[in-house]
Amino acid sequence: MSEKNTTKKAWVKPEITPLRNGLANKFGSVRNVNWCDSIDDVPFDKLIRSYGSPLFVASEQKLRSNIKRIKNAFSSRYPRIQMAWSYKTNYLGAICNVLHQEDAWAEVVSRFEYEKARKLGVPGQCIFFNGPNKSREILERAIDENARIHIDHLDELYLIEDIAASRNKEVNIGIRLNFDTGYTEPWSRFGFNIESGQAMDAVWRISSSTHLKLVGLHSHIGTFVLEPRAYSSQVSIMCAFLREVEGKTSFKIDYIDIGGGFASFNALQGIYLPPEQVVPSIEQYAEAICETLLEETHDHLSQGRNRPLLVLESGRAIVDDAEVLVTTVVANKRLPDGRRAVVLDAGVNLLFTAYWYNHVVRPTKPLDGKPEETVLYGPLCMNIDVMRNSVILPPLSVGDQLVFSSVGAYNNTQWQQFIEYRPNVVMVHNNGGVSVIRTAENLETMTAHEKLPEHLSRPFPDDQPEK
Ligand SMILES: Cc1ncc(COP(=O)(O)O)c(C=O)c1O
Repeated sequence: MSEKNTTKKAWVKPEITPLRNGLANKFGSVRNVNWCDSIDDVPFDKLIRSYGSPLFVASEQKLRSNIKRIKNAFSSRYPRIQMAWSYKTNYLGAICNVLHQEDAWAEVVSRFEYEKARKLGVPGQCIFFNGPNKSREILERAIDENARIHIDHLDELYLIEDIAASRNKEVNIGIRLNFDTGYTEPWSRFGFNIESGQAMDAVWRISSSTHLKLVGLHSHIGTFVLEPRAYSSQVSIMCAFLREVEGKTSFKIDYIDIGGGFASFNALQGIYLPPEQVVPSIEQYAEAICETLLEETHDHLSQGRNRPLLVLESGRAIVDDAEVLVTTVVANKRLPDGRRAVVLDAGVNLLFTAYWYNHVVRPTKPLDGKPEETVLYGPLCMNIDVMRNSVILPPLSVGDQLVFSSVGAYNNTQWQQFIEYRPNVVMVHNNGGVSVIRTAENLETMTAHEKLPEHLSRPFPDDQPEK
C-alpha cells in the first residue's frame, strides 16, 4: 500500500503579468535579480540596526583606491600632476580628508567651500579657487593666504587688482578659459572665451597690471564627458593658448588645470547601453590627455624648463561608486495601470541624482517570486518623488531593504532639506570599523536657525473660545 503524501504545498497567490512593449517578457525575462548584502564585508542589516534607515554608507577603501588609480594612471604617463578635490561633488569633511590624505589639494567654488577647506586644515596655497561669485571679503582672505585664484570675469580681475594694490602685493593668478573642443557643448558662461579673442584681451589687461602675475590656465569642459578625445582637444587648445601668452607677454605659465568631468560607472537616463560599454576607463582618459600634453609641451624641455604641472579636478569619477544609499520598503501598491509600486523611506530630496541616473537598485537579500516591472517612490508627499520609474524587481515586503548605487557624487551636497529629516551618513573604514560622518537631522537641528517674533510665539491666543 502506498503512503499518502500529507505535506501540503504552500499556497501562492496567482498573478497575471501583462506583457509590456519594450520590457522583458516570458521570452527573455529577468529570472534572478542580483542582491547585495554588505559593503566591505559589513552587513547592511547590521548598519541599519545601528544607524537607522535610510542610510548613506561610504567606503573609505573604495575612495582611496579610486583616487590612487587616477593618480597612478596620470603620474605613470606624465611627470608633474596634482589632484585637487572638487568640494562641490561631496564636501563631507571625512570624505575630503580621505582624499587630502591621498595628496589631493582642494578645488572650491564659493566662500563656504573655501572656509570649509581652510577649517579642515588645507593651506591656502593648496586651494584652487574657481567660481563666478567671489566677494571682496573672501578674495582678501584668499589673497592673504596665497590661494590659487582662477579669475572668472573682468569685474573679478579689477577687484583682485584693487586688493593686491591695497596690500602692495604681487598676486599670482590663473584664468578660466572657455572654448569649443568640437566634442562637448562649450560652457561659455564661465571664464574668458578663446575664439573671440576675449581671453587674450584679459591676458593683456593682466599684463598691464603691476600687481598681477598670470601663472595658470584653467578650464572645465563639462561633466560626464564620455569622449576622451574631448580632452585631447582641450589640452591642445590650452597649450596653443599657453604658447600665445608666453610668446606675446613675459608671463611663464606654471600649470594647466583641466578641471573634472570624467564619467562614473552610473547609467545616465536616455543612454541605452550600460555604463560598462560606454564609460571610458580612467586609463583611456589618461592616455588621451597625457599623450597630447607630452607632445604639446615638448619644447619646454629644449628650453630647459619643467613641463607645466597638470592639475586634475576630478569629482564624480572618484567618489560616485564609493557610496551607497540603503533604504527600506514602507508600503506596496498597485497602480491603476496594473504596475507594481513600492514606497521607500528615501526620496529624491536625498538622492538628487535620481533625476539623471538609473541607479543600480538591489535588494539586500535574495527574494522569492517573479521579478516584475516596479515603480519606486520616495516618502515625500509630492508627485515628483520618483526614485526609479521602472525597474525589474521581485515582490518586496514591508521592511525589505534596497541598496542604491552609485550615489557618492553630488547627493550629499545637492540634497535638500525638504519634508523629511536627512539621515545619518556613515563611513566604513579599512579596518572594518564604522563611523558616523554626518549625523541625522532632528527637530532641533531643523529649527536651529528660525526665530519667532514675540507676537508669533504662540499658535493660538490663550483666550480662544471652545468650539
Ligand atoms: C570647475 C569644476 N571643476 C571640477 C568639477 C568636477 O566635475 P566632475 O564631478 O564632473 O568630475 C566641476 C563640476 O561641475 C567644476 O565645475
